[in-house]
Amino acid sequence: MKELELPDVKDVLVEYKQMKLLYKSALKEIRTKLEILNDEFKFVHKYNPIEHIESRLKTEESITRKLFRKGIGVTMENIQKYIDDIAGVRVICSFTPDIYRIVDMISAQDDIEVLKTKDYMINPKPNGYRSYHMIVKVPIFLSDRVVPTKVEIQIRTVAMDFWASLEHKIYYKYEGNAPDYIKKELKECADLAAFLDSKMLAINEEVKSIQQEE
Ligand code: GTP
Ligand code: MG
Repeated sequence: MKELELPDVKDVLVEYKQMKLLYKSALKEIRTKLEILNDEFKFVHKYNPIEHIESRLKTEESITRKLFRKGIGVTMENIQKYIDDIAGVRVICSFTPDIYRIVDMISAQDDIEVLKTKDYMINPKPNGYRSYHMIVKVPIFLSDRVVPTKVEIQIRTVAMDFWASLEHKIYYKYEGNAPDYIKKELKECADLAAFLDSKMLAINEEVKSIQQEE
C-alpha cells in the first residue's frame, strides 16, 4: 500500500516565514516612500501632508479566517493570490486634498504598480465610512530574484481615522449586528467628521490666502 504523503510541516513553515519576510519588506519599502514624499513636501511647501503612518502584518489567524470565509483552501498560493491586505499601511493626512496628493505621488512612481483603488470619499460606504484605498505591488529585491509584493494602503484624514477606529470597536462588540439606532448614530458621527474635515480645510485655505497677501 502506498504511504500517505503529507506535506512536510518544516517545509511549510520555512515557506511561510519566507513569505512573511517579503511582506514585512514591502511594508518597509512603502513606509520609506511615504516618509520621503512627506519630507520633501515639508521642505518645498513648508508643511507636512502626513500626520502619521501606521503599518501592520495580518496575523496567521486573521489570514486563515479570511480564506475560510471566502471558501478558499488555505495554501501558500491562495494566501498570496486572494489576500490583498497581508501587508497594510495606513496614512493619516491633515486635510482631504492631501489624500489625493499622496495617491498621485505614489501612483506616479515607476516601480509601483497600482492594482486596485477604491475612493470611499467620493463614494462613502452606506455606514458613512470614508477613506481612499489602494492595492499596489512593490518590487522586493532579494539576493537571487525580484518579487513584486502586494500592499494595501489606506489613506484618510485624522477625522476619518477617529471615526473608523471607534466604529470598528463599537461594531465589533455587536459582531456586525448592531441595532438600527446605533447604526444611525454612527452614520451621524461620520457626517459630523466629514463636516469637520470641510470646515478645517476652509479655515486652512483662508489662513493660506491671508499669508499670501502679507
Ligand atoms: P476586506 O474588508 O478586507 O475583506 O476587503 P474588501 O474588499 O471589502 O475591502 P475594503 O477596501 O472595502 O476594506 C478593506 C479594509 O478597510 C478593512 O479591512 C478595514 O480596515 C477598512 N474598512 C472598510 N470598511 C470599513 C468600515 O465600514 N469601517 C471601518 N472601521 N473600517 C472599514
Ligand atoms: Mg470589507
